[in-house]
Amino acid sequence: MNRLTFLSQRLGDPRKYILSADDKPYLTEWALSTGFDAITVHAMSAVDLANLYHASANPESPANVDVQRVTAQAVMDTLAAMLKGDDTVRRVVREEIEALPPRQLIVTSSRGTTLIDGLIHYRTPLVIKYAAIGDDIMLVGPAGCGKTMIGEHTAQALQLPFYITSTINDTHELIGFVDGHGKYHDTPFRHAYKKGGVWIADEIDAWDANALLAANSALANGFCNFPDMSEPIRRHADFRMLATANTFGVGGDRLYVGRNELDAASLDRLSVIEVDYDLNIERMLAGGNDRWLEYVWKVRKIVNEKRIRHVVSTRAVTKGARALANGVDWDDVCEINLFKGMNSKDRDKIDD
Ligand SMILES: Nc1ncnc2c1ncn2[C@@H]1O[C@H](COP(=O)(O)OP(=O)(O)OP(=O)(O)O)[C@@H](O)[C@H]1O
Ligand SMILES: [Mg+2]
Repeated sequence: MNRLTFLSQRLGDPRKYILSADDKPYLTEWALSTGFDAITVHAMSAVDLANLYHASANPESPANVDVQRVTAQAVMDTLAAMLKGDDTVRRVVREEIEALPPRQLIVTSSRGTTLIDGLIHYRTPLVIKYAAIGDDIMLVGPAGCGKTMIGEHTAQALQLPFYITSTINDTHELIGFVDGHGKYHDTPFRHAYKKGGVWIADEIDAWDANALLAANSALANGFCNFPDMSEPIRRHADFRMLATANTFGVGGDRLYVGRNELDAASLDRLSVIEVDYDLNIERMLAGGNDRWLEYVWKVRKIVNEKRIRHVVSTRAVTKGARALANGVDWDDVCEINLFKGMNSKDRDKIDD
């Protein structure tokens, strides 16, 4: 008997499952072996895990729905049944659960139905819809707010391969080059453009201007020249560009200095979707450490209000909570995961 079969037998029918005191290790092991991401699983309480197990009873259900959050609804139904008759508790539970980010998303497209597992950013359903229409998209938001993750989930939703290109300093990083031995070195863009896929063009507002123009012309014209081919390659019907930027493409601000203005033609072609930190995801990633979560949020608020040049991203929540859970001192975690070398003048503004 393999371990997953053993765990399923030990826990029993997910529809009827009731959490008992010593089940957490089994639920954790079950969640990990069914592919849920380890950071998320270890951050979950026994009740969260039990709810996840309940939801597993019905992964394929609602058909013909574009993009639908399922886990929160399953959790709500289960708890509502358990709390039958107690309206106050039920209302509170309902409010709490509605604030949770969905942990599964069902997407039905012309390719069929896909189930995406993981915490789903509040912007992901909208991005999936635009990508499904065929638009090239620019996600604009602060560092570490989940843009890359949204791109990964979009690729999963459309059942396409996922490619990523980080900042480009020269056009050959986009279209590849032929070396001195006549060998062509290809690029993620070339793969996606030729065979289809979701291509993340990361930090596009920090790209070399010529590379950006080359990308824009390839996207607008529907074909692109590569150095190893005498004929241009046609854009694959399933090629999607998902650019990310830390500004609105109209030049750097005080935080993201050195960012370029995107030329009007590039900007005009893209559907621009603003993305911010997903506070519900951050609450989940904090693993129940409300003191840390609220401190990070407080520091972020002050940093924004006082226009301090510092990034307080979702990574500060995740990494700090994990360090604290592993016994690192509060002050050390603040220095290492939150303030990260902030000068004393700015520190004073925060402590004021
Ligand atoms: N949906 C999610 N599920 C779990 N963790 C997430 C999710 N979204 C973001 N995170 C956490 O936040 C971090 C930043 O996410 P991500 O790398 O997607 O952001 P980004 O906006 O692309 O960042 P950058 O601007 O640095 O490229 C991740 O390393 C992860 O820890
Ligand atoms: Mg990123």
